[in-house]
Amino acid sequence: MRILFICSEYEGLIKTGGLADACRGLASNLLASGHQVSVILPRYATLYQLKTEHSESVFVELGGRTLGCAVRSTSLAGVTIHLVEHHDFFGRSRPYDDGQHGYADNPLRFAFFCKAALAWASNQPAFDVLHGHDWQTAPAAFYLSTLRQHVSALAATPFIFTIHNGAYQQQCQPFWAEQLDLPTTGQNINFLQLALQYATKINTVSRGYRDELLTEPAANGLAYWYQLRQNDFSGILNGCDYAMWDPATDPAIAAPYHLTNLAGKACCKQQLQQDYQLAIANSPLFVAVSRVTGQKGFDMLIPALQQWLKEAPVQVVIVGSGEVYYCQQLHQLALTFPDKFRFIEGFNERLAHQVEAAGDFFLMPSLFEPCGLNQLYSLRYGNLPIVRLTGGLKDTVLPWPDKQATGIGFAEPTTPALLQALQQALTLYENRKMYNKVQQRAMKQSFGWDEASAHYLALYQQAISAL
Ligand code: ADP
Ligand code: GLC
Repeated sequence: MRILFICSEYEGLIKTGGLADACRGLASNLLASGHQVSVILPRYATLYQLKTEHSESVFVELGGRTLGCAVRSTSLAGVTIHLVEHHDFFGRSRPYDDGQHGYADNPLRFAFFCKAALAWASNQPAFDVLHGHDWQTAPAAFYLSTLRQHVSALAATPFIFTIHNGAYQQQCQPFWAEQLDLPTTGQNINFLQLALQYATKINTVSRGYRDELLTEPAANGLAYWYQLRQNDFSGILNGCDYAMWDPATDPAIAAPYHLTNLAGKACCKQQLQQDYQLAIANSPLFVAVSRVTGQKGFDMLIPALQQWLKEAPVQVVIVGSGEVYYCQQLHQLALTFPDKFRFIEGFNERLAHQVEAAGDFFLMPSLFEPCGLNQLYSLRYGNLPIVRLTGGLKDTVLPWPDKQATGIGFAEPTTPALLQALQQALTLYENRKMYNKVQQRAMKQSFGWDEASAHYLALYQQAISAL
């Protein structure tokens, strides 16, 4: 199949979270299965250094204006990459915000991106499917529905839309409709809703989250639209790209290790303790690598740590960046518990690997989690995930004391429930035989992309037949 991904992040090029990993993981797997995969994304300022081999001019009609841009092409690990270059819209180093606030012109920037992607695709040999990811690409579903009548290369092309996170929707006031060539209803425009209405098929990144989206409050106001498309709406669990995330081959970590020889894992833990001036102790190391947002459970986690760190013989290392409100509290926690707690603020992919390898437990007390990739990485790294049982976390981690347990789980989104889970983790760690068993089982879990990729191919076929 000839497949075009329209997306705003791609691992190795631009990443703010799991969207990048998921787009690359799926694209790589589809390529390896013999399909022709192209990806189109904005050329952010951080990509200006990237060498491109080919460039085409593309003209976009938007809100009564004609806007030009270049689409520059290159390739990454066999996948063809096309970058939409427009300095005013994308010549910024951060894709969506200035660090605190979303850019005010995001509706215009991403409507333009969608139109540019479609205008470019119109002049290529026809793609069998277009696959959009998250709100940044949602208007393409609507634009394509109007273009099919006039553009032969797009006439029979379905649009598959994947919701990686239903909480980010991009709403804007009705007056934008004219500038963005979007339908007017008198109500706020909601990008995500447009895709729910106009995409040929929609899916999200786990079965659990798919079911949650059918009702409020998980649907964030869009339950009606998810229900309306219920028969076209599926849940396909993301995979883990073990070529990138495997402690046996990971070049970023202090020493490799695998199921049958965990000596390297002890080195990785020591190295992190040394790097961040923590005592080289046998106490369990709890870690997190996370966007610092409400979604990730910081309202439960910070008070839990404030209480727990007073007593518990543990070390905690958190790597993350995001909302100032939480970051300040995390820095404060580091001052209060200098022997036990570190907060490393920033986005550091190498460190993310090192922390995965060093940890005994990985903290993921999310309020909601469409899929979650960090718990999948943690399983493989023998870093037992402590998860709230929601969305994709519930679908991938079996909580102790189940006989088949691979981690620790809790259900209620409250600080006491999380504290109980932390205490459980400590008890498990103290019973080393039991801990080792759970760790072995965790490391044996396999969530590769093969299965997800097969489901996507079936979905593409269904979408082609549905048109
Ligand atoms: P989400 O997409 O909601 O952020 P996921 O678990 O699906 O959550 O994916 C998060 C991805 O982003 C992982 O690859 C994780 O390692 C990475 N990540 C998150 N925060 C950071 C950070 N501060 N530094 C490096 N990588 C990070
Ligand atoms: C989103 C979700 C996360 C998911 C990722 C990739 O960022 O928050 O749960 O794993 O997308 O699909």
